Amino acid sequence: MSASDRERWDARFTGLGAGEPGPPAALAGREDLVPTAGRALDLACGRGTVAVWLARRGLVVDAVDVSPVGLAAGRAQAPEVRWIEADLDDGLPVTGPYDVIVCQRFREPALYPVLVDALAPGGLLVVSVLSGAGDTGGPFRAPPGELLAAFGALDVLHHAQGQGEESVVARR
Ligand SMILES: C[S@@+](CC[C@H](N)C(=O)[O-])C[C@H]1O[C@@H](n2cnc3c(N)ncnc32)[C@H](O)[C@@H]1O
Repeated sequence: MSASDRERWDARFTGLGAGEPGPPAALAGREDLVPTAGRALDLACGRGTVAVWLARRGLVVDAVDVSPVGLAAGRAQAPEVRWIEADLDDGLPVTGPYDVIVCQRFREPALYPVLVDALAPGGLLVVSVLSGAGDTGGPFRAPPGELLAAFGALDVLHHAQGQGEESVVARR
């Protein structure tokens, strides 16, 4: 990622402050799938709304993003989370196994097999991306079915695509 991309995300988060903690959208109505103990990872966490929610649920959380402004917003709400500034283009800066991994609205296909490897047996994976499904597509959007192809070998508990998004909830 270029410095200007990071500056763009910083600018987007500046002045927004902390967000409302909450589960990833793909888990709506399925929040009980998330355990109340263990290790969790929130990748490309932005302002950390999901990471804070996971920490309040009882998990020990690592949260990674390239934007120091986003991370600072999360840190203000939950200093107990390990907030990690890193460029995910360089790979995963943490080591599993994790009981829960969330990657919401960030796409890096090279990380897909790495995420599976970082999941503990029985661990829960929640991923969503902007998709060409139900949309005109574009350079940042995944081709329809990308997540199902990447994670279909797991126990897929929920899969949805349309209106420009694809999401998957799966267990290892
Ligand atoms: C659409 S936001 C999603 C944030 C959060 N997951 C959510 O759902 O609210 C995308 C996030 O990805 C982060 N990001 C983009 N490229 C990145 C990279 N190469 N490494 C780490 N984080 C990155 C941005 O800083 C931003 O916080």
